Amino acid sequence: MRAWQVHELGDPWEVLKLEEVEEPEPGPGEVVVEVEAAALNFFDALLCRGEYQERPELPFTPGGEATGTIVAVGEGVDLEEGLRVIATPFPSGGYAEKVTVPAQGGIFPIPDDMPPEAAAALHVAYQSAFFGLHRRAYLSEGETVLVHAGAGGVGSAAIQLARAAGARVISTAGGAEKVEICRKLGAEIAVDYEQENFVDVVKEATEGHGADVIFDPVGGDVFDLSRRCVAFEGRIVIVGFTGGRIAEAPTNHLLVKNYSVVGLHWGLYNNKIPELIVETHDALVRLYEEGKIDPLIFETVPFEEVPQKLELLTTRKTYGKLITKPSAS
Ligand SMILES: NC(=O)c1ccc[n+]([C@@H]2O[C@H](COP(=O)([O-])OP(=O)(O)OC[C@H]3O[C@@H](n4cnc5c(N)ncnc54)[C@H](OP(=O)(O)O)[C@@H]3O)[C@@H](O)[C@H]2O)c1
Repeated sequence: MRAWQVHELGDPWEVLKLEEVEEPEPGPGEVVVEVEAAALNFFDALLCRGEYQERPELPFTPGGEATGTIVAVGEGVDLEEGLRVIATPFPSGGYAEKVTVPAQGGIFPIPDDMPPEAAAALHVAYQSAFFGLHRRAYLSEGETVLVHAGAGGVGSAAIQLARAAGARVISTAGGAEKVEICRKLGAEIAVDYEQENFVDVVKEATEGHGADVIFDPVGGDVFDLSRRCVAFEGRIVIVGFTGGRIAEAPTNHLLVKNYSVVGLHWGLYNNKIPELIVETHDALVRLYEEGKIDPLIFETVPFEEVPQKLELLTTRKTYGKLITKPSAS
């Protein structure tokens, strides 16, 4: 079968090689999933470069989330072949025609009629946004949420989930097209943060109160400015550093303004509190079925073009999620 492999670390478009590898066999406690669709994520690029917090042993196949059908079941696994699932070989393994995952914690059943594109986009981004908003920031109905990079993968999920929770959403994004996308996703106000100062917009829209929750996948200057428009008892959730600079949080400022800066490393919940991931999956499927969330798909990418599209993903030229279908090409 075909799989994208990394033998040495570097930019994905340099180091990823499409290779014929052996068909996987499930070990005890494992299943093999035939991949219908896999998502391209920003962290896949970081993983290829060795810049992600987890570093799989070389050679490895990137791809932390996929969806497909169980085609082989290992010893001790009480699951049927033919079950449609989201498979989470997190952080690596999904850019292949088949992937082996642990039955416990690695697969999440999905309805038969859920399209593969939506299912492949429903896990990492939506789980991260859900944990960021609810578990880390205790979002309440009626609060104001400021979502940065709202047209990105986690940002678009955060806009939809904040709206589904009854929050008011203000979003930022780079450029007119992305700002329009944020509005369509449910942001009441969307700011092009390359053109306009979002601090003033948030203060004016909230009559000086500020944003109760700030969801920040960008960091750097965006974080520094966010501190100026966070509400009394507000929570800034640190999600990522796509802007490139890791900002400092001056503790005296947190003290005088009574706000919190909280970190989010969603992947850790897989080891620490896995039952929360299962609960969240069930909640996400329910929200999808109720029409309250619907993953924004930028493009379904031919499997052969995964490295180039990972490059595109790091150049701010995409929105929502990019998906590839390994078995379709
Ligand atoms: N903490 C966690 O558990 C967790 C979970 C999932 C993802 N993440 C992290 O969250 C971040 C976003 O992930 P994603 O999947 O949403 O990525 P994405 O779809 O590529 O979106 C990232 C967005 O960041 C913005 N951005 C600002 N400056 C940028 C720059 N210099 N280069 C590239 N993008 C820039 C872009 O939006 P604009 O053009 O609108 O500015 C872009 O759309 C990543 O750092 C990822 O590792 C963290």
